[in-house]
Amino acid sequence: MRFPPSWLDELRARADIVQVIGQYVQLKKNGRKHWGLCPFHGEKTASFSVDGESQLYYCFGCKAGGSVIQFVMDYERLEFPEAVKHLADQLHMPLPQMEDDPDYQRRRSQRDRLLECNKEAARFFHQTLFTPAGASALDYLKLRGLTDSVIRKFGLGAAPNGWDTLTKYLQEKGYTAEELKLVGLTVIKEAEPATETSPAKPRRAFDMFRNRAIFPIIDQYGNVLAFGGRALGDVQPKYLNTSDTPVFNKRLGVYAANLLRKERHLQRVVLVEGYMDVVSLTQFGVPGVCATLGTALTPEQAKLLKRFAPAVYLSYDGDSAGQHAILRGLDILEAEGLPARVLDFPDGLDPDEFIRRDGKDAFDALPALTPASYRMRRLRSEHDLSTQEGRTEYAKACAAILSKLEPVERENHLQELAVHTGFPREVLLQQIGLNASAPAAAAASAAHPQQPRFNPRRNSPAAQEQVRDEELLISLISTGRLPQDIASEEDFSDPLLQSLFAELSGGASPASLVEMQSDEAVRARVSKLLLTPPSENLDQLIQMARECLDRNRLKRMQEQLNEIMRSLNTLSPAEKSAALAQAKALSERMKELRHTK
Ligand code: GTP
Ligand code: MN
Repeated sequence: MRFPPSWLDELRARADIVQVIGQYVQLKKNGRKHWGLCPFHGEKTASFSVDGESQLYYCFGCKAGGSVIQFVMDYERLEFPEAVKHLADQLHMPLPQMEDDPDYQRRRSQRDRLLECNKEAARFFHQTLFTPAGASALDYLKLRGLTDSVIRKFGLGAAPNGWDTLTKYLQEKGYTAEELKLVGLTVIKEAEPATETSPAKPRRAFDMFRNRAIFPIIDQYGNVLAFGGRALGDVQPKYLNTSDTPVFNKRLGVYAANLLRKERHLQRVVLVEGYMDVVSLTQFGVPGVCATLGTALTPEQAKLLKRFAPAVYLSYDGDSAGQHAILRGLDILEAEGLPARVLDFPDGLDPDEFIRRDGKDAFDALPALTPASYRMRRLRSEHDLSTQEGRTEYAKACAAILSKLEPVERENHLQELAVHTGFPREVLLQQIGLNASAPAAAAASAAHPQQPRFNPRRNSPAAQEQVRDEELLISLISTGRLPQDIASEEDFSDPLLQSLFAELSGGASPASLVEMQSDEAVRARVSKLLLTPPSENLDQLIQMARECLDRNRLKRMQEQLNEIMRSLNTLSPAEKSAALAQAKALSERMKELRHTK
């Protein structure tokens, strides 16, 4: 479903960014922008700017930036449609007719009903916990050391020991057996005809969760998506979890997202494996704890975590399965560009067992290992460092890891590696160099196979200057005040800038361009770019744009000219005279450009 773009433009126009952000952040006007303390990273001096003219914000400290909708998404931690509704609600703007999708209403109302049903079930489980039917579950949770207050915070509950207590309860509330089955609360056993040995059995519906302690899985919007049920003793399976349903996909969410959402200025998310670990660490006062839902960490979950905090501490069980999951988790987080640290629990303990045994101070004192240092630690346990051969193999494996790091980070680990292996620094550096140069060069040439011509100069000062000019040009054009035909797509060598130009020429607003960017880094770059340019005077704006354009056009012509001159030797006489004529025309045009400047 899409909101009509014109309606979104109206929303953006009515939701004045200075006013909206002003409700969350104290802003002060200074020059043409408003300034305040950035709500997305802790700071003492204001580097967070809000620009009423371009309707964009940008933080010069943490580089967060975007439109008013982006701000609401990031601050309230909402998805785009929810943020839009939130704003529309504040502005008393009725929601528009959504794009036509006849199935949408049916899916939407089914989804609403299933979520409502889950909420009823969660209420039922939680209330049951404090009745005789929930006594054994409550005893179990108390035995595990949980306080009343944390039990309420997580809305823990009890599934009674009967066959169909919940199913009956929800059916009385008007939910059908099919709905209950669909949402995973009820199991249906089909009718069986009579056989020679047994009488006919009617179709029966009974509860999925029986005689278990219940952990409701609630998303960041407060929807109850699913449940985890812990056996009250040594019963298999230990945990029974809702399978995927129309409202639940265990690969997409994390346990305790509802609580994460409420935490401000989180420095890191602590990601654990089990529900119990989340509840227990939270009770001990560890902020920002959540868990995957019985699967290995997925890229979708990593993306979600990115919205809650700037780093993730992988805090998996100290057993071998947990340790293996850490290596995979690190790869996923790396691929999503989310900085990671590892907490390595001693003696094979899980976080819950560790914090109960050694306390919160010991938890806080655990070293937060960098990915490289954790990987090296793992390698150390796989090699026999008492033999020369073991040390050599270990050094090689570590060098491969260190070759991928930035030099300063590498330096931190080099010392450690020298001590463990006895190889001198220089030798290790050489080994690292061997690993670094070969694959990196191969990867670089594979990345741009069709444009060898631009490759050598891609990062040259001249190329950077050219991109800076193109950026300024985009920012000038985004004011909407320059003549339409002042530039064309060929004036941009940078693909992102080229596409921004195309969108702006097509009438897109700067704010909508920012929202189109799904990558955070790109979004930051675009919002910085589209902030109001340094002048209000129209003649000056046009003058600046012309200068950028001329400089870049000259540069491109010069390159073309060089190219022609280089190719002359390889041409036939006829081709040669055509090329020379082209070169002559080019240099004439360059002369003209230089003169009009
Ligand atoms: P406690 O024994 O209650 O402390 O559990 P834990 O938090 O230590 O959990 P554990 O490390 O055993 O498992 C981590 C997570 O894996 C749980 O939270 C469940 O989501 C899932 N899990 C564990 N056991 C089972 C099981 O038997 N079946 C299923 N489907 N999932 C399980
Ligand atoms: Mn445990």
